[in-house]
Amino acid sequence: MAIVVKSRDEIAIMKEAGRIVSGVRDLLVDSLRPGMVELELDEIVRREFKKAGVVPTFLGYHGYPATVCISINDEIVHGIPGTREIQDGDIVSIDIGCTYKGFVADTAVSAGVGNISPEAQRLIDVTREAVWRGIRASRAGSKTGDIGHAIQTYVEGEGLAIVREYVGHGVGRQMHEDPQVPNYGKPDTGTPLRPGMVIAIEPMVNLGDWRTKRDDDEWTVRTIDGALSAHFEHTLAITDGEAEVLTLP
Ligand code: MF3
Ligand code: CO
Ligand code: CO
Repeated sequence: MAIVVKSRDEIAIMKEAGRIVSGVRDLLVDSLRPGMVELELDEIVRREFKKAGVVPTFLGYHGYPATVCISINDEIVHGIPGTREIQDGDIVSIDIGCTYKGFVADTAVSAGVGNISPEAQRLIDVTREAVWRGIRASRAGSKTGDIGHAIQTYVEGEGLAIVREYVGHGVGRQMHEDPQVPNYGKPDTGTPLRPGMVIAIEPMVNLGDWRTKRDDDEWTVRTIDGALSAHFEHTLAITDGEAEVLTLP
């Protein structure tokens, strides 16, 4: 699929999609409580998206059965919300997307529930900073490899591991468009960034090994060694200057 450059008007629609999905993302974070059942988060998304008049992008995507991905502790991404209870000390990764007027916004956050270990808190903080390092490297004239390099050098410099098998991506009428945006790489390699490109940057960071495995449910991706993982994601537009982050409330 070729890269689709968006017009100013299309980016304005995507910004509205991003504003809506970010509000629900942040509401989910504020709702996290020990004893809460994962499916309650899915119900909040259904209710809030309906209220806002947006479509849950994930539901039915390649057969995905829910509106949000909930990945806890050693789960990295694509966890399916079920009847499991969230516990004190868990780190919960929430990945959520909506479609508004035909355009998608995709975002993710990791948050601790109750008392989490200092190690878990540092993992979350480094992953949040990693996505922002990627955002600051996202400028016209740079390349996707510059984004990956900024993220990888920061995360590895902090002694943590960056997942390789899952990467960021273009966003538009489809959730996943070209180009791929790896969270690792070499400067001045990959796809050149141009104004009007919209991409999602989404580092997944592990406390142990960078490698992953997938559960029998064919969705849930977890760390190969059972160590904790965190995930942050923003959708942003490339401009003539600083990237415009679309997934802010
Ligand atoms: N939002 C995820 C990503 O960041 C993809 C979710 S796939 C789904 O690319 F099927 F779970 F929706
Ligand atoms: Co994404
Ligand atoms: Co996502």
